[in-house]
Amino acid sequence: VVLVCCGGGVGAATWWWQGSVIDTVGQVDFTNRLAIPPLAPSHLDGQGRRVFELTAKAGKHDFGSGRTADTWGFDGDYLGPTLRAAKGEQVLVNMHNSLGEATTVHWHGMHLPAAMDGGPHQPVAPGATWSPTWTIKQPAATLWYHPHPHGETARHVYRGLAGMFILDDPAAPVDLPDEYGVDDIPVIVQDKAFDGAALDEGRALLAGTGILGDTIAVNGTVAPFLDVTTSLVRLRVLNASNARPFNFRFADGRAFDWIGTDGGLLAAPVSASHVQLSPGERAEIVVGVRAGERVVLRSEEVDLGGNLVQDRFVGGKDRFDVLELRGAAVLRASVGVPPRLVEMERLDPSTAVTTRGFSLTSETINGSAMSMERVDVTATLGTTEIWEITNRDGAPHNFHVHDVQFQVLGADVVAWKDTVFATPGETVRIVLRFTDYADPSVPYMYHCHLMYHEDQGMMGQFVVVRPGETASLHHH
Ligand code: C2O
Ligand code: CU
Repeated sequence: VVLVCCGGGVGAATWWWQGSVIDTVGQVDFTNRLAIPPLAPSHLDGQGRRVFELTAKAGKHDFGSGRTADTWGFDGDYLGPTLRAAKGEQVLVNMHNSLGEATTVHWHGMHLPAAMDGGPHQPVAPGATWSPTWTIKQPAATLWYHPHPHGETARHVYRGLAGMFILDDPAAPVDLPDEYGVDDIPVIVQDKAFDGAALDEGRALLAGTGILGDTIAVNGTVAPFLDVTTSLVRLRVLNASNARPFNFRFADGRAFDWIGTDGGLLAAPVSASHVQLSPGERAEIVVGVRAGERVVLRSEEVDLGGNLVQDRFVGGKDRFDVLELRGAAVLRASVGVPPRLVEMERLDPSTAVTTRGFSLTSETINGSAMSMERVDVTATLGTTEIWEITNRDGAPHNFHVHDVQFQVLGADVVAWKDTVFATPGETVRIVLRFTDYADPSVPYMYHCHLMYHEDQGMMGQFVVVRPGETASLHHH
């Protein structure tokens, strides 16, 4: 392993490990039963609000295969329970911080008031409880939650603070596999680096991309298998890694139905053989499994574009065996995926009131590192904008916008996204509409979701104001 300095473009003092390609294909024994995060209990309070309790705490987690490490988790040792709520419901989460330092909990992908967003402006002190409440105003989707403390997001997520947040839409029923933990499975994929019995956090300090682990954990299980008892299984795949993109496919190349993205279901299923996810992105897929067979979910041939300065930036040549699906001897027959899923609105770029450019380079956006006291973008409630995101580095980035779900212009499939990958030299154009909330005093974030970059300052703040209003940040 050689330590290499990256030179200009990625910040003066950043370094990364240049090692050999990681290839675990055929090397994983799949001896550990996949852990399924429990559904978080909730109750309705006197005002009809669905109330969840969530405690961030330290623990020790057994990843399986002899890997036990000091970790953090929500309610448990590692990751957190799956929260679930329906469109139209008002939710209230009592998030208690039992850690020895401040953290936050951010609802990634959620439309909600900025004060409830759980970003860097809503820190929760050690011993304190934070109780955001909001109404679910968006379609069925696979969202997630994770800490977002200023400059510390990578470490907090890496230690294990993350979980899934599933939204249902009872008014738009779709006949899909939906028995949680049976034929509707959360698949939270993370690469970890172990240092003996500890998680190796040191590499985060030395790597220009943050941690690139050599071991895959799914739902906190290393070398996992899943017993499948139905002929179709729905996987809600979340890349909750700090830096690593994956290009998921099945070992035998079988096609599956790609049915959903970050912000919900597609209009119709798309037959696909692979799906690439950078950190923060989700995909819902439905795959057929035959009785008695074993088939491996794998990641390989990650597309990082042609202009990489250095392949080791995010391990583009790395290959991983991720999860083994084991068909039972007798499978319950599933109903097929319906040919139509949801009504999909197409945002019309010709209605955009402005086009803004975002240049990603050297841990900055448009030359500025994140400041909690600066508003970078003021958007007007009810308007549509085009954002042009350009990656000017030799390394990959992605771009995540809080509060809204956007559409990528020129994409083959119209889909709701909150995070989009940008390879070196690439410009991605997205169209967004700010519909949810106006509050000139509390900002939302947009940033690279490679968490080390975010922590280094590749992040900006936006507010949504009513027409004629101006931003007036209340800094805490
Ligand atoms: Cu998933 Cu601003 O974060
Ligand atoms: Cu980045």
